[in-house]
Amino acid sequence: MVNVIFCGFGEDMDKRVIAKQGDLLLRVAQDNGIAIPTECKDGMCGSCAVRVEELTIDSGTGTKSDVDPDGWDKNKYTTYMEDKELNTLVEMGAISKKEAESSQQYAQQTPVRLACQCIIKGSMLVKPFE
Ligand code: FES
Repeated sequence: MVNVIFCGFGEDMDKRVIAKQGDLLLRVAQDNGIAIPTECKDGMCGSCAVRVEELTIDSGTGTKSDVDPDGWDKNKYTTYMEDKELNTLVEMGAISKKEAESSQQYAQQTPVRLACQCIIKGSMLVKPFE
């Protein structure tokens, strides 16, 4: 279980929720009453774009912990973003082409994600994309 903190969506929608690794960010938001606009739910329109930051908060204690290099879990800390999502983000000007390329190269997520394409890997802070 991981923490997903929604911040900047409005008084009733800013909250911390518990999610499962592998959950879709958009589904977690909708299940918890956080309004993220959607049109296609297929990574094409860009309306569900949000800013994300990965957090190193331990869901059990709420304390900060650094990633243990010996316990490096590739599945947890790498994120393969599909070309479709990266292309949409570049087209809408949310990320640069260079950011998209390094995301692919290093299997890391970009600071802006499409909620309908974002699989939750670890604790994260989610803000609206303006
Ligand atoms: S709803 Fe269209 S890209 Fe997510």
